[in-house]
Formats: sequence, structure tokens, C-alpha cells
Amino acid sequence: MTTKRVYIETVGCQMNLLDSEMVVASLRKNGYELTVDPQDADALLFNTCSVRQLAEEKTYSSLGRIKRTKQQHPEKVVGVMGCMAQKDQQLVFERAPYVDLIVGPGQLHRIPELIESVRQGEGRQVAVSMGRRDGSLDQIKRTHETFDPLRDPTMRPTPFQAYLRIQIGCDKFCTYCIVPMTRGPEQGRPPQQIVDEAQILADQGCKEITLLGQTVNSYRHHDGSQETDLASLLEQLHEIDGIERLKFVTNYPKDMTVRLLETIRDLRKVSPYLHAPLQSGSDAVLQRMKRGYTVTEYREMMARISHHLPDATVSSDFIVGFCGETEDEFQQTVELVKECRFKNSFIFKYSERPGTKAADRIPDDVPYEVKQRRNNELLAIQDAISEEDNLDLLGRTFGVLVEGPSKKAKKRGDVGPLVQVTGRTRCDRIVVFQGNLRQVGHILPVAIYDASSHTLFGEVVTDHVGPELFTLNS
Ligand code: SAH
Ligand code: SF4
Ligand code: F3S
Repeated sequence: MTTKRVYIETVGCQMNLLDSEMVVASLRKNGYELTVDPQDADALLFNTCSVRQLAEEKTYSSLGRIKRTKQQHPEKVVGVMGCMAQKDQQLVFERAPYVDLIVGPGQLHRIPELIESVRQGEGRQVAVSMGRRDGSLDQIKRTHETFDPLRDPTMRPTPFQAYLRIQIGCDKFCTYCIVPMTRGPEQGRPPQQIVDEAQILADQGCKEITLLGQTVNSYRHHDGSQETDLASLLEQLHEIDGIERLKFVTNYPKDMTVRLLETIRDLRKVSPYLHAPLQSGSDAVLQRMKRGYTVTEYREMMARISHHLPDATVSSDFIVGFCGETEDEFQQTVELVKECRFKNSFIFKYSERPGTKAADRIPDDVPYEVKQRRNNELLAIQDAISEEDNLDLLGRTFGVLVEGPSKKAKKRGDVGPLVQVTGRTRCDRIVVFQGNLRQVGHILPVAIYDASSHTLFGEVVTDHVGPELFTLNS
């Protein structure tokens, strides 16, 4: 078999990163190797996101950049996969007629076969899942398949960290959000499959696993009378030797139960880091978003977290300028950001998504400039809080899992072995320090001497005595 080359570009969330990893792995098994040069590739894949207009535009400009290459080399196969492929289907061909292949996130296992069909001259190929109204729930679910082939260690960006999918789809139907349409109904993977996959990862030297789901803490799997939730899944994964850290994203605030918080408290490997997006600090806006909780209920969740996990960090997402958001409603968000003191927040300007309830029923009436101003204002407030809270950590020592050269080191082209490295604490704080590439993949005690809003700066402590590294907070 002659070696072929695949080029892949990925936008979107961690779920997409994992999907790309899985697709590349399955192509490797079919005689492909990865290339970073589109000119050099036999197959060019674009893994897409539809969560905001901008994400879609990004893919179309990438596609624009390879148009000439494809015209000069029509034998190259160009594929669009992921959420935009599912959402727009044939429409993608209209905007980019040189695309050969469209594959939704529930059909990724078919990519090797479909690329082959295109190569054999069978013309354009489309593989998408059923829409949410196109059949019975069972039928729809069956067409949204999770794609988690067993992996070899070379597929992952780092051998000591891995994403592990535990849930696909979403049933929450927040009015602004396209994900339930692109990813289909919520389905929990069978716990045994998840545990087996984690065991393989551990055998390969993986130390940190991040469990993925759109509403990961809503995870449920029924097998006869046996019900597994996230807490019991964490208990099972905690038993696996070699795994030292377990994280999970993204949490749905309403499902943050005391049982889950107590489990996190009792399992030393589980990170007390909770990404639980609030989206807005106004009850009226939350209601228009159909988020399913009130500000009071979110506050109660925060109180439960600090009661059971006093060292936990919480982070959030916000949408500013959602339909009808008044200045007063936005100020309520500002107040809540000040009150909750999130570790960090991702702030997005509302982007109307055709096919969502909000697009159908509520006008996108906040002017772009207002969205921009609110975005900047909220970000500045969050950054100031993050910096203040980070500065409080000066002098403390944390266990840091070293991930690789820092952004600065990469930019400068430092080759090491002595370089500035970056890593994360159990609570997902980023720490940068002068280190050694041989430390990558190790958890080291690092004392903090400076901080900015997004980064802690530290120094490895060589004579560390004290709590074991994995319990070093936070
Ligand atoms: N499942 C996760 C995240 C989904 S998308 C969750 O429920 O939290 C990630 C973030 O994108 C969301 O939290 C939301 O803040 C933002 N987002 C989703 N749809 C959006 C839209 N139409 N416009 C702007 N931001 C959006
Ligand atoms: Fe979208 Fe809401 Fe589901 Fe998150 S919970 S993926 S925001 S519908
Ligand atoms: Fe985007 Fe799909 Fe993820 S729309 S955010 S890639 S689930």
C-alpha cells in the first residue's frame, strides 16, 4: 500500500479536537500519514463548527485558501466534516463547489471508505445523520454514532494527556444553540467502554484524562436496572493505576448535585475544577435562553460548591447581546461576575444561528457595537478579578503537570532542553516556569512568585516536602 497523506484543520470545541484525532487515527490504519502542508496532501479535511457565524466563516476562508490547489490537482480529495457539515449539508457544495465530501459528526467512521469512493471516481459523497424531527428518537439516535475507535498512543498530541468522550449530543435546547441539531440527541456511552478505553490510555502512559460531554454532569447510562451517573463513573475511573488526574467538561449548572460534589471531594485524582457556564446574570435573559435555572439557583450551586469543595475553581461562559438584552440586564451579568469570582470566563457576542428557537422567534436586536462594548466591559471585569485572585496565590506551591514549551518559547523557537515550559495545576490554572523539556509529562511542585490574569509564574521547588503532589491545591 503506498503511503498517502492527510491534512486536517480543526475549529470548534474539544469534542471536535477529539473527533479529528479519531479520524486521523482511522486514516492511519488505512495507509495515511499526517502532513501539515496542504500542497503535500492527498486528502484535505476541514473539521467545522457552527456555534457562531465566525466559526463558519473561518472554515470558508480556509477552503478559499486551498481552492487553487484543488483546481490544479483535482485528484486531491477535499472533505468538510463536523457540525457545519451536518447543519448545511449540500449547501456547503454551493459555497465551495470544489468540495468532494460532506460528513456529519455522527458519521465519522465512514470517512476512510468515502474518501476511497471519491478517489475511485464515484463523485461527491455525503454522509449525515437524521435531523431532530426526521424520525423516531431511536431512529435518530442510531444515525448519530459515537466514533471512538481504540487508539494508539501516537495519535494524541501528548502521550500523557487524553480526551475521553463519555456522552454525545445534547437535549437541553438552549434557544440560541445549534449543538442539539448538529450533534443530535444526548446519549451516554456505556460505562464499561469508557473504563476500558481509560485503561488502555493508562497502559500507554496517560496521566490525565479529560472526560467530554456537552453537559457532562448530566451523563447517564441505563443497563437494565443498573444506572450509572458521572459520580459512579468517576469512582470507577479513579481505580485505574497510572491515571493521576481526572477532569470533565462542560457542566450544566442544574445538574451539579451534592452527590457529584462529594464524590469529587472524596476522590483525590478528580480535579476540583468546574466549568459551569452561567451565560447571563439576568433571570429574564436566562428565561429567553431557556437555560433551565434562575440566578438564585445558580447562586445556590455556587454555595454548594464552596461548601463541599472550598478549594474548587469555577469558570463560566457568557453570551452578551442576546436578543432583547437591555443595559440593565447586562449590568446584572456584570454584578454576578463580580460576585462569583470565576477563575476565568469565555465571553461571546450573540450570533444568531438559523435553525434555533431564538432565530425563529426572537429578534437579534442588540446592535453589533453594543455587543462589542459589553463584551469588552465584561472581559475587563473578569480579567481584573482573575488577576486579583491569582495574585493571592503568590508564595503557594502547586503540583503542575508539565505540558510542553510555553507559547513564548515556541514563538522564540527555543529548542531546549532548558526552556520556559507551561503546565496546569489540578484546578486548571496555567503555570509558566523555567524548566527542562525532560520534565514534560511529570507533575512537579512549583512555587508561585508572580501572576497575571491568565498565567501564574513560578519556579520548581527542588526540596519539596509536604503534601503529596496530587493533593497540592488548587
Ligand atoms: N455544551 C456547553 C457549551 C456549548 S457551546 C454548554 O452547555 O455549556 C460553548 C459556548 O458557546 C456556550 O457556552 C455559549 O456561551 C456559546 N454559544 C453557544 N451558542 C452561541 C451563539 N449562538 N452565539 C454566541 N455564543 C454561543
Ligand atoms: Fe448548547 Fe445548551 Fe446544549 Fe450547551 S446545554 S450544548 S449551550 S443546548
Ligand atoms: Fe462547535 Fe459543534 Fe463543538 S458547533 S462548539 S464543534 S459541538
